[in-house]
Formats: sequence, structure tokens, C-alpha cells
Amino acid sequence: MTTVERRCTKERQIDMRIILYLGKGGVGKTTISSATAVRAAREGKRVLILSTDIAHSLADALGRDLSDTPIEIEKNLFAAEVNILAEIRKNWSEFHDYFSTILMQGGASEIVADELAIMPGMEEMISLRHIWLAEKSGKYDVIIVDAAPTGETMRLLALPESYQWYTEKVATWHMKTISFAYPLIQKLMPKKNIFRLMPEIGSHMRELHRVLQDPKVTSFRIVLNPEQMVIKEALRAQTYLNLFGYTLDAAVVNKVFPENTSDPYLHALVAQQKKYREMILSCFYPTPVFTATHRETEVIGTNALAELATEIFKTSSPTQVFYTAQRTQEVQKENGKYLMKLYLPNVEIDRLQMNVKGDELLIEVNNFRKNIVLPNVLVGKKTDYAKYENGSLNVFFS
Ligand SMILES: Nc1ncnc2c1ncn2[C@@H]1O[C@H](COP(=O)(O)OP(=O)(O)OP(=O)(O)O)[C@@H](O)[C@H]1O
Ligand SMILES: [Mg+2]
Repeated sequence: MTTVERRCTKERQIDMRIILYLGKGGVGKTTISSATAVRAAREGKRVLILSTDIAHSLADALGRDLSDTPIEIEKNLFAAEVNILAEIRKNWSEFHDYFSTILMQGGASEIVADELAIMPGMEEMISLRHIWLAEKSGKYDVIIVDAAPTGETMRLLALPESYQWYTEKVATWHMKTISFAYPLIQKLMPKKNIFRLMPEIGSHMRELHRVLQDPKVTSFRIVLNPEQMVIKEALRAQTYLNLFGYTLDAAVVNKVFPENTSDPYLHALVAQQKKYREMILSCFYPTPVFTATHRETEVIGTNALAELATEIFKTSSPTQVFYTAQRTQEVQKENGKYLMKLYLPNVEIDRLQMNVKGDELLIEVNNFRKNIVLPNVLVGKKTDYAKYENGSLNVFFS
């Protein structure tokens, strides 16, 4: 039995959970993650909320100063912000010094070299390592990750998969650098083998990857607002989560204006939001969708956050697994042709229309419309035909 499967406390057994909220900038990821964390802690679970966003705002939401060491905000609720630069200085100094020295030899000033020596992928690696360490520590029942906006988080989530490629690339680059500037660089080479760490990190990555791909342990949730561009990015996130084998457990539509407003200024906005909310329900079907209203003031402090969590999750626990059925999208290659499987249970199909527009696939089944952002491998391809089988609509591309 691994540490993630079950943790025993005196009174009960709790399944370890990791919940990661993602979405476009400013939609409310930090707010919804914090609300989830406060509510879970008040249910008696030991919770760590961890911000992996470089532009931290978790401290603002919780109304407390934070650092990279978890502090207890209230009973059972711990919070920390990963400090990438401090982390690099502390644990990755060999890497960092080596690369920044090379950059300075190339003419960069010390400050610029320091900044540039943060290799691509390093920030993501450090964030993932923190999640892994928190999970391994056995101290928490729930880890909630307040992530950076979607693009960066997708890079983070793709990293365990691409780590091997990444290490090979770094190693090749290292060898090339040595060979063309040999005498100069050799003097700067660290005494220790900096690449000795890589296999160890590789095994941590593989372990974490398994945990992130286990839907009983890890839930990915998308936060979005009822606005066109935000929805598009959320759909892209849905596609890539599925592609990387991660389970989308729920979506939370945040900043919804109350429908019964007497303010004439808001009427048009409310009608527009209503249209987009319907679109969100069908685009995310069968994944559950929760709603949070736009509050009159910013949601700051644990009591306001707990109230928001009650509005969103009602009497359900926010740490439960909300979606347990099969993956909502899958891309397969059969006899050289691509096939996209869309899980749409209980949909009567009399009339089906499909249309590819740019990077989007638009599907209309009776009165049900679904937009899907296509993964890059399918962009530019035409739909051939579709078949509905065992609750899935299989779309073949030519
Ligand atoms: N339901 C809500 N009602 C009112 N204000 C809200 C609500 N949700 C979030 N906010 C406010 O909107 C702003 C952005 O929210 P938040 O920081 O949670 O978004 P984010 O997605 O984490 O942003 P970033 O991408 O910058 O990290 C904050 O000022 C927050 O207090
Ligand atoms: Mg945030």
C-alpha cells in the first residue's frame, strides 16, 4: 500500500486527495482553491494549500503573509507559496551557478545571467517537486494546488511526460557546449557531476505522474467565467488534460451575476452570461459544473471563503471525487487515421452536424451543441464520419 492510497488516523481512514485548480488569468483560481481549502479544513481534514504561481496572490486571499514553509492559518489549514528563486538558490545552486557562469562568459551581466540561468522547465520541475514532497510527507489529507494561468500549468502537467526528453536535451546541450568551448568551459565545470541528480528526479517525476493520473487521488478542476475567451481557454485545458491522461473532475463557473437583479445596467450582461452558462454546461457535459456568484466585494479572509465554498458545493464535501465515469475525450490513431472519442452518455442522436472551424470542432446533436478545441495533431484535418457507440461519439478524421 503506498502512502497515497490510505492514511489512517485514530478515528477513521481518509483517502489522500490532490486537487488542482486551473484556468485563465484572473478567473478566480486562487479564490476558489482557497475556498475549497478552508471548507475542507473545517470538515476536519488536514489541508495544505500550495501556490505554484510565481505571481502569488494566495496571501492576499487568505489575508496572511506566507512563505515557502507551510504555516497554520487556522485549525487544520496550512498554506505555503513555492518560492522558485529561493528554491533555486537553496537546492539547485550547482545547476544555476554553472549555467549563469557560462552566460556571463558569453557577455551577459551577472543579473541577466542569474535570471536566464533559470532553464525552461526548471520552474515547473520545482513546483512539481513541492507537490511530490507534500504528498510524500504524509502530513496532509488534502493538497490543494493554486496554479498559474492555464498555459504555464499545462507546461507543468506535461513535464512528467516530457522529463526524459528534457534531460536528454539538457545533457546534449551540455556535451555540445563543452565540445565547442572546451578549454574555457572545462575550468568552470562544477567539481561534482551536476547531472547525477537527474535520474533521481526522474524517478520522483514518474511517481508523481502516477499519482496525478490516478483519478481517485487527483482531481483537476477548471475555473472559468461566462465569457467567450475564457470559455475557449477552458475548453483547450479540457482537451489537453484529457490528452495527458488527467481527469477533469468538475468545472466552476465563477463571477456569475444574480439573475434577479433590479439594476438595468446589469440586464444585458446577465442575459449574455446566461447564454454562455448554457454553452458551458453542454461543452463540459458530462462533467459536473458548479456556480459561484459575483460577490459585491472581493472574497478575502477565511470566513468569506468558507461562505463562498458553501454556495458552490452546498452540502457536498469539496474534496469528494465529483466525476468518476470514463474520460470525456480521447484521441486514438487507427490504421493511420485519427479518431476522437467523445463520451456523451444518454444523448439521443437523430440529427448530427459536425463542422471544423480553425482549431475548433463544433458538434450539434439535435439541440445540443458542443465545441471542442482540437489538439494540435488534429488541427487542419477534416472530419470524415462519426459513429455513436456505447455512450461515445467517435469522430473519425481524414
Ligand atoms: N466570486 C467572486 N466575487 C467577487 N470577486 C471575486 C470572485 N472571485 C474572485 N474574485 C476577485 O477577482 C480577483 C481575481 O481572483 P483570483 O486572484 O482568485 O483569480 P486567479 O484566477 O487566481 O488570478 P491569477 O490568474 O492572476 O492568479 C480577486 O480580486 C478576487 O478577490
Ligand atoms: Mg491566482
